[in-house]
Amino acid sequence: MTDKELLALARDAAAKAYAPYSNFQVGCANESADGDVVTGANMENACYRLGICAEQSALTAAQHKFGLEKVTRIAVAGGAGDMVCTPCGGCRQAILEAAQLSKIDVEILCGSGNGSKVERHTIGELIPFGFGPANLEPPV
Ligand code: THU
Repeated sequence: MTDKELLALARDAAAKAYAPYSNFQVGCANESADGDVVTGANMENACYRLGICAEQSALTAAQHKFGLEKVTRIAVAGGAGDMVCTPCGGCRQAILEAAQLSKIDVEILCGSGNGSKVERHTIGELIPFGFGPANLEPPV
């Protein structure tokens, strides 16, 4: 799948977000090493702090469909304008979990909601010096 196609899936997923409080719809598409794709979107709650982000929603779907350790590429898109949507700090940490399992510096395509802009990053760029499962491994 091309980057453009993966981003289009993220934008489609954003259209299905449940975000009545922020009105900021975010979608995420995760691709596996075998080319499988899952999507997710943010889902808010009347108890505001219980809302979940699109990335975490998609990572949950990834775990169920093919396993977190197979996630290789992630597209995120959100908002209505031309500002790219980058994963929040908590989502970076969640993506780092998958990246340390696969030992792949997962690629993250950050798109604007209107499809006009894309930025490419890796999880290593977005959360340098991160703490993940590798830190918990017993010393060899
Ligand atoms: N949001 C995401 O889904 N992913 C991010 O990385 C940034 C923020 C959601 C959370 C909330 O529902 C809305 O966007 C506004 O913050």
